Amino acid sequence: MASMMVPEVTLNSCDGITMPVIGMGTSSYPRADPETAKAAILEAIKTGYRHFDTAFIYGSEQDLGEAIAEALRLGFINSRSELFITTKLWASFAERDLVVPAIKASLRNLHVEYVDMYIIHWPFKLKEVKSTPVEKEIVQPLDLKSVWEGMEGCKRLGLARAIGVSNFTCNMLQDLLSIAKIPPALNQVEMNPAWQLKNMRKFCKAKGIHVTAFSPLGASGTKWGDDRVLGSDVLQDIAKAKGKTTAQISLRWVYEQGVSMVTKSYNKDRMKQNLDIFGWSLTEEELDKLTHHPQRKGVTFASVLGAHDIVLQIDAQL
Ligand code: A2P
Repeated sequence: MASMMVPEVTLNSCDGITMPVIGMGTSSYPRADPETAKAAILEAIKTGYRHFDTAFIYGSEQDLGEAIAEALRLGFINSRSELFITTKLWASFAERDLVVPAIKASLRNLHVEYVDMYIIHWPFKLKEVKSTPVEKEIVQPLDLKSVWEGMEGCKRLGLARAIGVSNFTCNMLQDLLSIAKIPPALNQVEMNPAWQLKNMRKFCKAKGIHVTAFSPLGASGTKWGDDRVLGSDVLQDIAKAKGKTTAQISLRWVYEQGVSMVTKSYNKDRMKQNLDIFGWSLTEEELDKLTHHPQRKGVTFASVLGAHDIVLQIDAQL
């Protein structure tokens, strides 16, 4: 399934489904025009990326779908099954009867018959069909049982090979596990040396839920990220001593924690560099320095949705 270069992780309770540990993120800021995005994704396939992460709300499903079709035409891949595709249920469709229609809309955008992973994007429901920024008045708690039944329906119908969640707290995962007939395969959360989520990772490991990191580079240069990872003295010093880039040190650290990652670069050299994190490792001393890295969360729901009770509670627990 995956390229020769990238190791894979086997997902629990998913009939042995494997996922390349590095995926290419397709959420860009400012949003890349479709031709740029499509060319970058095609270049990524050529470079060896086999795992792609998109979401209904990113507006990049179409770009990814067109790039995959082109990659097949050009013979970069022989079959769609060589790719691992993740997309996400937008919060406006987070109730039982809206989930299957939502994944079908994503599949149409992607021009594929199934995705490998379908994820609940946010642990809230929005009362209206609305992209960000959203007003706090339309934010509601999730009815977990309802939305997860819809997600399980996607798997049963063969529209998604595996199902998971994103931005879920440990409490939410516990609630989900108590009602799920099919347990979530993974939780996609912000994680990097500057936001290590040790408790979450411990909890997920105990429950057989894989963790995937988003913003493994701190989403530098975007509206929601900053320089807390790539500008870190600790990471920069380790990079200099090892002859690696700061980005590679961060990605390698994530990998050594047993966590997979989705990282975005539409730049040819950087996308290549970001795959080149295997065949070397961090020393005990370097790992120790990174373990004690100052902690600060980058992406908060409050920054997108305002200070709302539900939102603040979730931010505080993530
Ligand atoms: P670009 O697309 O211009 O390369 P994250 O993976 O944490 O979401 O971070 C993505 C951001 O980091 C993007 O702005 C991306 O910009 C930048 N980026 C990705 N790879 C690297 C790298 N190897 N070195 C420096 N910046 C990078």
